[in-house]
Amino acid sequence: MDYPKELVEHVRQRSTGMQLEGFVAGQGPLFPKLMIVGEAPGRNEITTHIPFSGQAGVELMKCLALAGLTREDVYITSAVRSRPFSIKERLNKRTGLLETSTPNRTPSKKEVLAHAPILDYEIFQVAPTLIATVGNIGLQRLLGSGHLITDEHGKLLVGPIQKLDAKETGYQWTSQNYQVIPLFHPAAVFYNRKLEPVIQKDWQQVGQLLNN
Ligand code: URA
Repeated sequence: MDYPKELVEHVRQRSTGMQLEGFVAGQGPLFPKLMIVGEAPGRNEITTHIPFSGQAGVELMKCLALAGLTREDVYITSAVRSRPFSIKERLNKRTGLLETSTPNRTPSKKEVLAHAPILDYEIFQVAPTLIATVGNIGLQRLLGSGHLITDEHGKLLVGPIQKLDAKETGYQWTSQNYQVIPLFHPAAVFYNRKLEPVIQKDWQQVGQLLNN
């Protein structure tokens, strides 16, 4: 999506001093059946500029297929549009040199709030029929921090969602209702293989919901 320049600049200013790099725009058609709200781009995505183009993306494409969908059918975005990274230093015992690495990390609540104007804009412009949050970050961004993926995955929730408040320091509820289905993040299977059949069942249900 092409965002207004001022919107991107506003979010850049709100993110000053945060350990974030790059910028990946959300991608997909307007008025789709489904919008995916992930967490944040990783190292792969800030290079390709394509959301979910790394390992998690391969899993997400398998999930979409279970619902009878392809990448082209859905709008894909996330709570934060830049890569959150941490800075790790470690001694390389072989060379005796201190090496620095900057692995991906989960975005903080402050970073999600800093990027809120972009997701609000996208939801308004894209106007999807159904929003699937993948992982706790997207779920809590839209429905509040009391929600947990382990309790609510695969349940269709209908009601207001959170958007940035007028002071731009917190959230308020939308007056409009939305259909939201919380799902596990596709990368969750890398840490817990037992989730695979659960994730598959949830996505088959997304397919059924969209066909009804
Ligand atoms: N995880 C996300 O939430 N988004 C991406 O683009 C990649 C991984």
